[in-house]
Amino acid sequence: MPTNTFSLTNNQTGESYKYNILEGTRGPSVLDIRTFFADTGMFTYDPGFTATAACESTITFIDGKKGELRYRGIAIEDLAKHHTYLETCYLLLNKQLPNKEELQNFDLEIRHRAYLHKGLQKLFDAFPDNAHPMATLSAAVTALASFYNEHLDIENEDEYLEMAHRIIAKMPTIAAFSYRHSLGIPFIEPNIDLSFTKNFLTMMRAYPGGKMHLYANGHEEIKDVEVRALDTIFTLHADHEQNASTTVVRGVASTGAHPYMAISSGIAALWGRAHGGANESVIAQLEYIASVDKVEAFIEKAKDPNDDFRLMGFGHRVYKNFDPRASILKSLQDELHDALNLDTELMAIARKIEEIALNDEYFISRKLYPNIDFYTGIILTALQIPKSMFTPIFVIGRTVGWITQWIEFKKDKTSKIARPRQLYRGK
Ligand code: CMC
Repeated sequence: MPTNTFSLTNNQTGESYKYNILEGTRGPSVLDIRTFFADTGMFTYDPGFTATAACESTITFIDGKKGELRYRGIAIEDLAKHHTYLETCYLLLNKQLPNKEELQNFDLEIRHRAYLHKGLQKLFDAFPDNAHPMATLSAAVTALASFYNEHLDIENEDEYLEMAHRIIAKMPTIAAFSYRHSLGIPFIEPNIDLSFTKNFLTMMRAYPGGKMHLYANGHEEIKDVEVRALDTIFTLHADHEQNASTTVVRGVASTGAHPYMAISSGIAALWGRAHGGANESVIAQLEYIASVDKVEAFIEKAKDPNDDFRLMGFGHRVYKNFDPRASILKSLQDELHDALNLDTELMAIARKIEEIALNDEYFISRKLYPNIDFYTGIILTALQIPKSMFTPIFVIGRTVGWITQWIEFKKDKTSKIARPRQLYRGK
């Protein structure tokens, strides 16, 4: 089949250049400008990479206009409804969903790898009690690189999968320990008898010995509905193609650094409130607004061009009609409304913001809709998870995406060190 081309003419010199148009299996065509500088002596300018494809990928597909998200070709709605987070991890890493035996083996391996080296546990003592769990989490993942220097042979599938499984398994433990350290309370070791998500909730909530809160009528156990809600949140965060933190992970991968250093850098990038840090900011903002009757004033503030206040949890670079992850969480919120006791003042404020913003010309014309972070906070608050842990929960879910993207980058023979150019306007 002949390749379609795109011609460009320099109006100053009259010279014309032809570039191949590459076709993916889904999504827009891509203009191959790799020889552009050599041909023309000019760079292209695209701050924030709004129109630049930096790699080929077969992991995740997003159609921002349709509000479509697929991992390895499977729609997110299907994964969220019919599959667990661990099945989704297997899918991302192995390009297909596991059968029963594959899932059992994968699950067992992840459970066995959840423990942290005693030496690594000492690291937490070095941080102040009031350290934000994201800072401790990022540092602990950096430290993990010093414990595991082997299994980096990208030609050997067993080796890099072992390296991937280890980081997926240990991330919830590191996150829970970071949180417990911030409270100055003893760590709860992983429990091999518990599933990935229940184990994380237990490490967050339990008292030494694995006991839950004691009440007159017995222990308050973790409910299945809570595990299901958090597991869905992990699935919805598992990957999101070339977002800011994944771009950082690939950038670090491109220099040949240790994969856990790349992930630690991804954690740092995710912390910002324009990205994964938005979930914490959404609840902080709802708490600050404090009552439904103040919502309108804050909406006006968000619309004011002279005020840099933004409505947290609204807007997305790619989704311009709706964020499918947000739609799934909104339905989950409605479904779990009674079971999780979601009828709170924060929920009422959130509902009011949603109602006004969705009908306001400012938000409609800029295609600003609630994103995933708008809904996670309400559900996580109902799960007794404090807001400082919202972004670490995003990290736990996204770890599989980062490591899968790292593997893809390493296997791609066309990948190069990330080295953009600039438009110099200095002296
Ligand atoms: N509240 C008020 N105005 C907004 C908002 C908002 N949340 N987001 C964008 N705008 C306005 C912005 O001021 C600009 O207006 P104008 O054209 O008049 O200058 C216009 O909308 C376009 O904004 P932008 O900053 O050029 O858009 P972007 O694609 O570069 O930024 C974003 C996307 C997500 C960083 C931004 O919408 C934002 O800051 N949202 C709030 C933070 C947030 O919720 N982040 C979580 C994203 S989803 C989780 C994830 O995947 O990371």
